[in-house]
Amino acid sequence: MTSTNDIRRSFLDYFGNAGHDVVPSAPLVPYNDPTLMFVNAGMVPFKNVFTGLESRAIPRATSSQKCVRAGGKHNDLDNVGYTARHHTFFEMLGNFSFGDYFKEQAITHAWTLLTKDWGLNPDRLTATVYHTDDEAFDLWKKIAGLPEHRIIRIPTSDNFWSMGDTGPCGPCSEIFYDHGDHIFGGPPGSPDEDGDRFVEIWNLVFMQFERQDDGTDVPLPKPSIDTGMGLERIAAVMQGVTDNYDTDTFKALIEASEALTGTKAQGEQMASHRVIADHLRSTSFLLADGVMPSNEGRGYVLRRIMRRAMRHAHLLGAKEPLMHRLVGSLSAEMGAAYPELLRAQPLIEATLKQEETQFRRTLDKGLKLLDEATAGMGPGDVLAGETVFKLYDTFGFPYDLTEDALRAQGFGIDAAGFEAAMGEQKARARAAWKGSGAKASDDVWFDIAERVGSTEFTGYTATEGEGQVVALVNDGVEVQSAVANDTVTIITNQTPFYGESGGQMGDAGSISGAYFRGEVTDTAKPLGRLHAHQVTLASGEIKVGDVVQLKVDSARRNALRANHSATHLLHAALRNTLGEHVTQKGSMVAHDRLRFDFSHNQPVSGDEIAAIEAEVNAQIRSNSAVTTRLMAPDQAVEAGALALFGEKYGDEVRVLSMGDADGKNYSVELCGGTHVNALGDIALMTVISEGAVASGIRRIEALTGEAARLHLSQRESQLKGLASLLKISPDEVGARVETLLAERRALEKELSDTKTKLALSGEGAVSSEPEVLGEYGFLGQLVSGLDPKELRGLLDQAKNRLGSGVAAIIAINDGRASIGVAVTDDLVERQSAVDLVRAGVEVLGGNGGGGRPAMAQGGGPDGSKADAALDAIRKILLG
Ligand code: ALA
Repeated sequence: MTSTNDIRRSFLDYFGNAGHDVVPSAPLVPYNDPTLMFVNAGMVPFKNVFTGLESRAIPRATSSQKCVRAGGKHNDLDNVGYTARHHTFFEMLGNFSFGDYFKEQAITHAWTLLTKDWGLNPDRLTATVYHTDDEAFDLWKKIAGLPEHRIIRIPTSDNFWSMGDTGPCGPCSEIFYDHGDHIFGGPPGSPDEDGDRFVEIWNLVFMQFERQDDGTDVPLPKPSIDTGMGLERIAAVMQGVTDNYDTDTFKALIEASEALTGTKAQGEQMASHRVIADHLRSTSFLLADGVMPSNEGRGYVLRRIMRRAMRHAHLLGAKEPLMHRLVGSLSAEMGAAYPELLRAQPLIEATLKQEETQFRRTLDKGLKLLDEATAGMGPGDVLAGETVFKLYDTFGFPYDLTEDALRAQGFGIDAAGFEAAMGEQKARARAAWKGSGAKASDDVWFDIAERVGSTEFTGYTATEGEGQVVALVNDGVEVQSAVANDTVTIITNQTPFYGESGGQMGDAGSISGAYFRGEVTDTAKPLGRLHAHQVTLASGEIKVGDVVQLKVDSARRNALRANHSATHLLHAALRNTLGEHVTQKGSMVAHDRLRFDFSHNQPVSGDEIAAIEAEVNAQIRSNSAVTTRLMAPDQAVEAGALALFGEKYGDEVRVLSMGDADGKNYSVELCGGTHVNALGDIALMTVISEGAVASGIRRIEALTGEAARLHLSQRESQLKGLASLLKISPDEVGARVETLLAERRALEKELSDTKTKLALSGEGAVSSEPEVLGEYGFLGQLVSGLDPKELRGLLDQAKNRLGSGVAAIIAINDGRASIGVAVTDDLVERQSAVDLVRAGVEVLGGNGGGGRPAMAQGGGPDGSKADAALDAIRKILLG
């Protein structure tokens, strides 16, 4: 028996030897066609080569392309499990000529490979051609020697292939294999063609045209060849079976699910095993290509497929999550041909396990509700739309899962009722949002979101990609087009641009299309669902429906990523250093800096900051990988995640784990932001400020990467400048500044002592002659730079000079005045120093003043009133 892996290899070898470039399969998410959900044919990655937009060095290629048909134009999901040849995931073998060989050589290659290399019996092969394609008809006669009755002209679109409503297309020729008359079915074009006897194995497309928006077909510059052969089908033929699920790959997968569930793929359980095998392939390959389960877009298609399989696992009696335990078997079968499967195996297993664990919590209850709701129904009856909606909304049953569950009993769904229930929920959501104080201008975002759904964010893995414009908003109003110099908000169906949320600023970059160029200055995220690019159009015109190239400024994004990951590390280091009471109170991640607010009721000391920086930078140098997982909120808490803000039941959260601390992750946080792949990408983190923002809340600002380097380098040159000013080496600056400060303190002390000495010596302050004020002798004096402590000594000295009398001395320091008054003992009965000092203090703008009748002191803030204060005392003495 020829194994599926051998067939794939031999196909690629055949065309490789015939001068074709052997090209690895492109990822399942198309990078060059935003209107397509998943790659669904071998030619998709070459679309731009066929239309002439791109060129390849070698004008021939061959590939085994991963394809998914579950969502969008080609959707086979409903039939999988119940037919012999439907799959959500399959491999398409193809050979391509880009303006090189055409019909004759394509047919020659196909015929040679099938009948010579692979030895298929020519008598079992039949070809079809488009009814007007005489050229192909004659070539089949000439090259294969097929009799005319086995070259069947088909007038329908079956023999005119087009990728979508627009794009490359042309007549095609299909090759059928006849399994023999013991199987029911007729040749193509006959009434019994749908039977299993004649199976299409290869489609040769003679690409001649490009279909325009208006439906006309324009000849391609160089006619080309695109062929597609389903690997699963040809494997069935070459392995002598009529059912794809009986081929070696599927048998191995089904044996694995039989072993794990203890059931056989027979009778009622056959479909379940087939669904599981097929869905295991599509989900694993989608996960390997970066699609993660979600409630929107591609992620929701993935979730639908997963959950459909999980219900079948439940039907087989699986008591524990099953799907993740089958991934090893899949890797064994297909990992050699698709190494991405091996690389992603841990992620695939973890995600499947998490999804199945989560879904099983509601699956039982949902199925019970389904049983009750269908109890009285008969074949042909439909289940109420409201019930289908409840299963969807409360129990996480995708629409097609319910449809699948009803299928066995022949029940249908009231689709209109389901839509109505869905519409009501949207109206409720809008009302609730408005009730929460949203602006009237948010209406435009609701209108858009309800019409087109959420923007699919592709920016966790990519910084470039295509999108289709689904809405344009100018000044809060939807418009159909915009022109050069307009500032307009552009919404696309998918984008790599991060919309500002969770403290991380929005992305900037460029946007362009066939007819315009623009600059994205910022990206917002209205309603938390739409990525709104703020664009200034540089040239041309943009219209709703346009396909656009979106390019994030990746240097800026890398800086944002580094700052965001550093914020997580900082948070962990703060808790380790200051204590577990530290919780996040806010954060701002910009491209040029980061800011983190947290609860802590005293300043963070220099030593603590040094410890925090040391810890964070040690993690950075470990360069360990940053991992992202999707989890249910309670699992995230179990895993040690910080920061849970009231997620609703059923929500899933992104859990970011980074760094290593005693074998555990250093930081585990919930986060929707973009992060570095490995911590070394942060390069360096340095704290630039620490301060208070509110009572009990501190703020740290920090820099990473180049900004941190630049900051430290500027600090370094400041230090060097200082050192050269002091004419010493930078190492000595600290000690020298300490010495200089000590010297300064000593000089200040010396100066103050000298002034006091000068004042006390009679040369300074108390130098004037006493005045005679009525019956008193009076000495009034101002001194500056004198320590107030010295006032008392000065007053004693003045009393000695007076013999009998009153002395008042005011010392001014930094604008403030200290006043002292002394009265000689012979006069204290008549004049109290306390009264006099109070009069002076009042003038100096102060309060009080006190002491004893012979000696009192006080002070006031307004030293400029010193003379007036002395005058006030004079006045009292004059009576
Ligand atoms: N592109 C062609 C197909 O998908 C070969 O059938």
